[in-house]
Amino acid sequence: MAGRSEGLRLEPLWSAPEAPIAAVDARGGLLPPALAERYEGDLTVNLQLDRPTIVANFVSSLDGVVALGPSEPNTGGGEISGFSEADRYMMALLRGLADVVVVGAGTLRVGRRHVWTAAHLQPALTDAFAAWRSELWLTPQPTTIIVTASGNLDATHSGLNAPDVPVILVTTQDGADHLARLRFPPNVRIQVVGEGARVPAGALLEVIRGTGARLALCEGGPHLFGELLRSRLVDELFLTMAPQVAGRDATVHRLGLVEGTSFGGGLGRWATLSAIRRAGDDLFLRYRFGP
Ligand SMILES: NC(=O)c1ccc[n+]([C@@H]2O[C@H](COP(=O)([O-])OP(=O)(O)OC[C@H]3O[C@@H](n4cnc5c(N)ncnc54)[C@H](OP(=O)(O)O)[C@@H]3O)[C@@H](O)[C@H]2O)c1
Repeated sequence: MAGRSEGLRLEPLWSAPEAPIAAVDARGGLLPPALAERYEGDLTVNLQLDRPTIVANFVSSLDGVVALGPSEPNTGGGEISGFSEADRYMMALLRGLADVVVVGAGTLRVGRRHVWTAAHLQPALTDAFAAWRSELWLTPQPTTIIVTASGNLDATHSGLNAPDVPVILVTTQDGADHLARLRFPPNVRIQVVGEGARVPAGALLEVIRGTGARLALCEGGPHLFGELLRSRLVDELFLTMAPQVAGRDATVHRLGLVEGTSFGGGLGRWATLSAIRRAGDDLFLRYRFGP
């Protein structure tokens, strides 16, 4: 399927006035000219001082659907965005800024050829992204972190086999036992955390911190994002609204799925809208979560 919104600028529509705050660490700023052609202005993420900052990126349909599976396996965010090229641009910019990209194993399983780098999404801008990361004193590529309880991964997945992309598989002891039977290339290491059946969100944060990262990008999927949100570890959400009504059961396929739990007290998590951009019919919303 051809990409929607090919070549469109992500034009700024509105941004919240920045509250005057004491000196903060920040990542980003004005984009270099090669990247600013389609994203004019500034892309800055304020960094937490006492822990890695976590921002998330999702694309949603108008009716809140972010994933079509499991009845439609091997479909991903592309089917939700209509393969929006502007959405891929936004994803690439966030990967360009991040020290690590974190995804759950469910997201890994939907596409065997995906690599979690900016260049994978925007190959024509490979040099521009490399120059930007170098200007920001970042490693050439973000580290990919895959979270899995089962360890049931495909070791031949492209995202695990790019020699220049470090990968950490964060798992349970059972998961590690399973992974030990597979053969991974030298850029992949396995890290066991906790003793339970799941990777606690706090332990995942410590793995991220252990890499020296200041900024982590969570690209989902819904289960992993839900757990991070519930643990109050998500600082910002970059949410693309794609102009389709997907018409699926939103309780199974919605953003931030947390099975059998709520965020406590039955109340949701509220966020503050901080910016809006538009590319054709796609809206790019940016929200900040409070502590
Ligand atoms: N629209 C979007 O922007 C977007 C973004 C991302 C993904 N998606 C879609 O979402 C769908 C996948 O949904 P999903 O909710 O299954 O995705 P997911 O959160 O990526 O994957 C869930 C799996 O990740 C592992 N996992 C997550 N949290 C864990 C934890 N705390 N401890 C241990 N393991 C953990 C488990 O793997 P094991 O099963 O190995 O134990 C779990 O089954 C796909 O269709 C994908 O394309 C959409």
